[in-house]
Amino acid sequence: MSGSAAATGEVVREQLLTYQDGSERLATISDREIPFPDGRLIVSRTDTAGVITHVNAAFVEMSGYSEAELIGQPHSILRHPDMPAAAFQDLWETIRAGNKWHGYVKNLRKDGACYWVYATVIANLRHGEVVGYTSVRRKPSRRRVEESARSYAAMGGAQAT
Ligand SMILES: Cc1cc2nc3c(=O)[nH]c(=O)nc-3n(C[C@H](O)[C@H](O)[C@H](O)COP(=O)(O)O)c2cc1C
Repeated sequence: MSGSAAATGEVVREQLLTYQDGSERLATISDREIPFPDGRLIVSRTDTAGVITHVNAAFVEMSGYSEAELIGQPHSILRHPDMPAAAFQDLWETIRAGNKWHGYVKNLRKDGACYWVYATVIANLRHGEVVGYTSVRRKPSRRRVEESARSYAAMGGAQAT
């Protein structure tokens, strides 16, 4: 399913997204990329299950959701179908083991456009126990975005697994 949005010439498609927990949603996905704003950091925190507990202003602006729409939702609300499941498996294995994860992530905005980030994710410890996770994202280099897009496409995106 694809077509052109008459006003912008943008290519838009509808795709059924299936999540790890078995839930599904029909998302509108466009080929429009919103550049990561210079000099900003996008920050979020989750509980141990990946449910969003905190977002900063840059997160709200870039995702297109309100803070109220984000808090309490699984972080996969931003998952773009071009992201391979293996990237997130690696993320979870790394952070659950107490290690720091870095990676390039293509995120899906509420309006169907996307934005690329260079993400760092760490565990938050209290008295030696993991109580949640924090992610800080900064602007990725164009070269790394293009390399990641190629390698994720070769991995087939999440829908291939
Ligand atoms: C702190 C933290 C931040 C995360 N940030 C993102 C993110 O920005 N985009 C994303 O797609 N997944 C993010 N994830 C991974 C999601 O929890 C999830 O594993 C991923 O979206 C795959 O979704 P699935 O459950 O549908 O397979 C984050 C996880 C954690 C713990």
